[in-house]
Amino acid sequence: MIDFGRIPQERLPALLRTMPKAELHIHIEGSLEPEMIFALAKRNGVALAYPSIEALRAAYAFSDLQSFLDIYYAGASVLLHEQDFFDLGFAYLHKAAAENVRCAEVFFDPQTHTARGVAMKDVILGLSHACHRAHAEWGLQAKLILCFLRHLSEDEAMATLDAALPWREQFIGVGLDSSEQGHPPEKFARVFAHARALGLHVVAHAGEEGPPAYIESALDVLHVGRIDHGVRCVESPALVQRLARERMPLTVCPLSNVKLCVFPTLAEHNLPALLQAGLCVTINSDDPAYFGGYLNQNFVEIFAALPQLGSREAYTLARNSFAASFATSADKARWMSELDAHFSAAAAP
Ligand code: HPA
Ligand code: ZN
Repeated sequence: MIDFGRIPQERLPALLRTMPKAELHIHIEGSLEPEMIFALAKRNGVALAYPSIEALRAAYAFSDLQSFLDIYYAGASVLLHEQDFFDLGFAYLHKAAAENVRCAEVFFDPQTHTARGVAMKDVILGLSHACHRAHAEWGLQAKLILCFLRHLSEDEAMATLDAALPWREQFIGVGLDSSEQGHPPEKFARVFAHARALGLHVVAHAGEEGPPAYIESALDVLHVGRIDHGVRCVESPALVQRLARERMPLTVCPLSNVKLCVFPTLAEHNLPALLQAGLCVTINSDDPAYFGGYLNQNFVEIFAALPQLGSREAYTLARNSFAASFATSADKARWMSELDAHFSAAAAP
């Protein structure tokens, strides 16, 4: 038994940073820092619409999801070669390892690149080499999840999955991202059924800007193993009960939610209500280069904004992150023991 009451509130930021954790909702293209955008633009001879790193950063003021996506897709235009994807993936995983992330399940958006003539092989092999190197260097277990852009058609998603199948062993699942409103999960029923038949894990963004009905169809039509975001579930008490009963994980992204105006401030975020309802919530960074911080920044800022969150909630969120991962039971058990030891030491007299 961990005596959470013995851990003083002032030790919380250090505890949040040092505790072992998993990150389950990170778009690798969203970890593309302005400095790397400029370096890759130079290396690849790509013209940018912004004269300087500062001017680009100044444009990172978003009013909703779409206003962000427009800039995010423009930033990704500097990624052309396998080496670029390796460099992008390795830079994120280096930061994640330094933040005590033990397991990262990383989204990538192949259609953002193949539409510009980049080869699927270069996207997948660049990223998967970065994952293998991260494991060899830091023991960080990193896996890839291929996301379909939901503003495009299901036929295009199906063609994307088929084009990726020669590298089937390099990714563990498929996801659904991009503009949510007007693009409900059921639009992708067939391609998700195909992915499941191939033995892939399936997840979907739902209930970020879209209604609770999108969360329900992600569950009932796509048969997802996790809901990405899902914060709008609170608008349907019956859905909240179901998510709790089924232990369906929600990958919540606090800094993203404020930057994209899903909540006005972190202090008004519904994380405490989600935890109170017994949901399997996890904390994630979404697009850290655009939203003001990586995983530990998300933890530290949301705990600072919501004083009702303490060491017990920190432990629960870290434990949920391992439970909600697609890792083996043996890996989950190992990480959870490490987590227990970490909190037991923090609570020791
Ligand atoms: N929502 C939808 N699509 C995205 C996001 C997000 O938060 N980040 C990158 N693509
Ligand atoms: Zn996301």
